[in-house]
Order: sequence, then C-alpha cells, then structure tokens
Amino acid sequence: MSLKALKGFKDILPDEVNLWQFIEGRARDIFHRYGFEEIKVPILEKTELFVRTIGESTDIVEKEMYTFKDRNGTSITMRPEGTASVIRSYIENGLYVRGSVQRLYTIGPMFRHERPQKGRLRQFHQMDVEVLGSDRAMVDTELIAMAWQLLHDIGLEASLEINSLGCPDCRPSFKETLQDFINGRLEHLCEDCQRRSVTNPLRVLDCKSAHCQEQYTSAPSILQHLCGVCSAHFDEVKGGLDLLGVPYSVNPRMVRGLDYYTRTAFELITTELGAQGAIGAGGRYNGLVKQLGGPDVPGIGFAMGIERLVMLLNQKDNLEGPAGPDLFLITLGEAAYEKGFQLMQKMRSLGVRVMMDHEGRSMKNQMKQANKQKAGFVLILGENELENKEAVLKDMLSGEQERVDLAGNLENWAADVKTKIRQY
Ligand code: HAM
Repeated sequence: MSLKALKGFKDILPDEVNLWQFIEGRARDIFHRYGFEEIKVPILEKTELFVRTIGESTDIVEKEMYTFKDRNGTSITMRPEGTASVIRSYIENGLYVRGSVQRLYTIGPMFRHERPQKGRLRQFHQMDVEVLGSDRAMVDTELIAMAWQLLHDIGLEASLEINSLGCPDCRPSFKETLQDFINGRLEHLCEDCQRRSVTNPLRVLDCKSAHCQEQYTSAPSILQHLCGVCSAHFDEVKGGLDLLGVPYSVNPRMVRGLDYYTRTAFELITTELGAQGAIGAGGRYNGLVKQLGGPDVPGIGFAMGIERLVMLLNQKDNLEGPAGPDLFLITLGEAAYEKGFQLMQKMRSLGVRVMMDHEGRSMKNQMKQANKQKAGFVLILGENELENKEAVLKDMLSGEQERVDLAGNLENWAADVKTKIRQY
C-alpha cells in the first residue's frame, strides 16, 4: 500500500502556491497599512488554554481537538485557532507594556478533527488578526472594514452579517428566555442541543443539524435583551459601517462557534462554496484576557480561512497575476546558448524572472516549454541574431513582436530587454 496524506490534510502544490502567496501578500500589505504587526506563536499549546478560552461545551473542544499526552504526561493540543495563543503570548510576554493598544496578526496552520468536505479540512490555514486594548466601537468598524477591503483587494465578494452577543450584564436574561424557548421543544432537538440547553443554552443556536435549525427560526432575539451600553455600542458599529459604505445585514441568530465573544460578532459569507460558506469571522471578546490571568483589557479580532479564499479564486476564470517567468530565452546553437546563459544571469540580477532551456531542444519545443511555463515574453537568440546584432522579443499575451538591439554589451542587452517587458 502506498503512503498517503492523512484524511483532511492536504498538500499545497506548486500550481496553487502562487495563489497562496498572492493572498498572503495582499493580506500582509493591508494589515501593515492598518498598523498591525506580525506575531508568530507555537502550534502546540497546553490543552487547558483552549478549554478555558474557546469553552468546554463548544464543538471544537468537545469533539474536534487533536489532543495527546507528551512524553512528560502533559496534555497538549494542536491549536484549533489562533486567538487563544496570541492572547497567551500577549500576557506571558507583557506585550501590553509596549502600548495600551496592540494590533497583532498571525498566519499559519490550525487543526480541527472535523468531517472533511469541500472547504472543510482537518489542517487548514488562518490569517488571524487581534486588537487588544480598545473597547471603542469604531475599532470594531475599522476591523470589519479591513476584512472587507482585503476581500475586495483579492477580487472576492461576500456578504457581511453582524450581531451583538451582549455582555455578562445582559446575557443572563437572554439565556433564561432562550432556555424557556428550548424547553418547549426539547423532544425535537438533537442530543447535543438537549444537553447544551442546560450547560450552555446559547450554544444550541450554533448547532449544525438542519432539523434543529428549523426549530430555532422562531427563537428569541438577543438584540431585544441588550443592555443600554451594549445596544449603544452596536448602534455605533452599524453607524460606522454606514459611514464607510460597507454593506451588512444584522443576523440576530448568529452566536459563533466559540464561547469567548461579547458584543460585536460578524461573519463574511459566500454562497459559492456550498455548505462551508464562512470565509472569515470574528468578534469582540472583552473579559477574556483578564479571565486568562492578564490585565483587564478588551479585545476584538477575526480570522479568514486561506483554503476557502483559494477555492473561490480558483473558481474565477479571469485570474490575473503572477504566473510563469517574465521572460523565456529561446536559444539556437552553442554560441547563442552561451550568450543566452550569461544574459539570463544578468537579467536575474536586475530582478527579472527568467528561464531558458538547458536540454538543447528544438525551437518548436522551446516555444512549447515557454507556453507551458506561462512566460510573459520570449526572446529568440540564434546565430543569425548574434550576427545581425538584433533579436526578436515576443509578447506572449498580445502576440506583438519588438526588436531588441544587440549592438552594445550584455549589460546593454539586459537593460533594453528589461524596459520592454512587463514584470509582476
Ligand atoms: P472560526 O469561525 O472558527 O473563528 O474560524 C475562522 C475561519 O477559519 C472560518 O470563517 C473559516 O474560513 C476558517 N475555517 C474554520 N474551520 C475550518 C476548516 N475546518 N477548514 C477550512 N477552513 C476553516 C476563529 O477561529 C476565531 N479564532 C476568529 C477570531 C479571531 N475571533 C476573534 N479573533
């Protein structure tokens, strides 16, 4: 039997890596524009960290974590998300002394033992951003607008749903109302919901069973239970989004799959990926840093799933952007090969992505290779060209041809070609 990758674990092959680099590049660029700094945190953490942050009765903690005992008998978990680790690091390294507001992002693999399907993997990658230290509603707006802009910048669209999950002051009264509602239809609910109706009633609204969801269409709305402060905060977030022209809809039934949220919660949803429609999601988590033993600072963040973004981009047919080399050199004959080899190195040191054939293939075969590698331009160098001190440069997109002057030295050739090609 040949060895294969684990179920739900995927190789990211060279053909797709371009898209990954494109997405991550755009994301880093935008995060930096919004004042975020990168932080790299470990993939393994003590299990307790995730239990205490994500919540004991969530699907992630109850069913999906990759947990094992290490050689010392310590319970270790492969991180299912990034927020918990970023906060742990923020507290452990005293990052709050660097300034009252910290804007941090991290990009990397996460692990959840879910049932694999289109857009749902067991190892997936998140771009995760967190703002620690501000409770201002405009920061919520700014963060949502940043997520929106990122999607727009990589050429994607989604719908934005927002909700408020209240705070420890107003949530208990909602919990009670919801519990009464659930108790009235307990026999129609799945086992998880029946259990959670007692331990963590809000959780039931996040149940993945379509049958349960049908029951919840008439569930009470948390928005009717918000205290004055939460309600004003939510109004300000909505007002901010209106101000920036970011379209949204309010979804009072969105509770998110993690327990740490307070007030603002949001999801970016697409209908183009089947059941796994969330391409990014997040919210505010005031109180979490303190609960983990840190200072009493509020926080808000979100994460986007890179695989889902890549899938969406792959579904578009007019993908533009970096493909193959900027230039492919076709050479014919030994003398032209040598000159071409030198020219290639010269141009690479000028920052151009250049490839050539080393196998002595025919002109036709070299052209095929240039096409296959999706080269932007092709320069043909043969004995005639060297003798006539002139070569032909072909634009592989438009088919147009241009002459390149070979009268000067290699430096001049390289400089001339560089001015005549497009570079990504
Ligand atoms: P989450 O909603 O669990 O939130 O995940 C965020 C995003 O990660 C999802 O919208 C989705 O795009 C992607 N994702 C999640 N699970 C999978 C999977 N099994 N396969 C592929 N993609 C997946 C969080 O993780 C929070 N930590 C977000 C956050 C940051 N909240 C505050 N700060």
